[in-house]
Amino acid sequence: MTGAIGIPIYPTSTYAQDELGKPRMGYEYGRVSNPTRDRLETSLASLETGIGAKVFASGMAAVHAFCNIMKSGDHVLCTSNVYGGVPRLFDQVMTNFGLEVTYVNTEDLDAVEDAIRGNTRYLCAETPTNPLMALSDIAALAEIVHRHDIEMIVDNTFMSPYFQRPLELGADMVLHSTTKFLNGHSDGLGGAIICSKREQVEKLAFIQKAAGAIMSPFECWLVLRGIKTLPVRMKQHDENGRVVADFLNLHRKVSKVYYPGLPEHPRHELAKRQMSGFGSMIAFETGSLANATRLLKDLRVCILGESLGGVETLIAHPATMSHAAIGEEGRKRMGITDGVLRLSVGLEDVEDIIGDLEQALERL
Ligand SMILES: Cc1ncc(COP(=O)(O)O)c(C=O)c1O
Repeated sequence: MTGAIGIPIYPTSTYAQDELGKPRMGYEYGRVSNPTRDRLETSLASLETGIGAKVFASGMAAVHAFCNIMKSGDHVLCTSNVYGGVPRLFDQVMTNFGLEVTYVNTEDLDAVEDAIRGNTRYLCAETPTNPLMALSDIAALAEIVHRHDIEMIVDNTFMSPYFQRPLELGADMVLHSTTKFLNGHSDGLGGAIICSKREQVEKLAFIQKAAGAIMSPFECWLVLRGIKTLPVRMKQHDENGRVVADFLNLHRKVSKVYYPGLPEHPRHELAKRQMSGFGSMIAFETGSLANATRLLKDLRVCILGESLGGVETLIAHPATMSHAAIGEEGRKRMGITDGVLRLSVGLEDVEDIIGDLEQALERL
């Protein structure tokens, strides 16, 4: 309307109506719609090549909205090696409402097909996985589930649409914790679901209105601002990520590095085919809880904290942080040892990041 380059934030709970039953431009109430939110939803749909998107108060609120599309007695298949919050929601909340969930190794296509039941409605895949960077073949999974009339949703948080676009590979919906790379500055929480079909958008719009876990106009604006620099940030995250992964891979105190950009990653060829970059998420094995604890204490540049995808390098201990809720048995099944650390490589000068890791590793 004004040519303002900055997208306006509309901090309004409601809208004046010109006439009874005729809301101006369709805007009625803030939970139902908001111009800043509309703008973000249009932008995300465009980035993921979807036909529409809906945004929520956090990534987990988006997962919960997805669950609300289903009904009691429906069955979902879920990648076994996912972000710990997802099984926490499925197993400790949604199963109370009759949702049935089976965890399956989505790298194994036969295992996925074998796990399909008559009441399976969705396959929920995360690739790469959090934290061990396991990769599933999106196109091959989509082909299998579609043969059985099942839809597939992919958590694309780690790659962002800059490096991977699941809808182009055959997925039906894409999920993001916008808290991570899309926001990019660790200053806001949010979640999004991008859809390939109009009816999915309509269902999610209804859930926004009925359940109300929407993203606030200010948080929408933060994500819109983050998206303006997404390509430059992702290029630099990827560049720094490759250097740090190579450094860790050659270090004698690190016994294993999980990064799809390394030629020895078991799905390196798939990574090159399915993604246009490798990103900046790296997990590595320090050998023990004592080593991990010591290393974390000695770091000066890398910040110990939950989350990922921001400008600053963050380091986390999955066993006691993101994956504490799934218990020791669950972690053992997923291969997450007490010595694994997860890095979200930031945009600092890469020499500073490596120098910091080096001085801490040397003290082990
Ligand atoms: C891959 C992935 N999906 C979803 C989530 C949940 O997002 P949020 O923390 O915004 O609720 C996270 C959080 O770490 C995540 O890493």
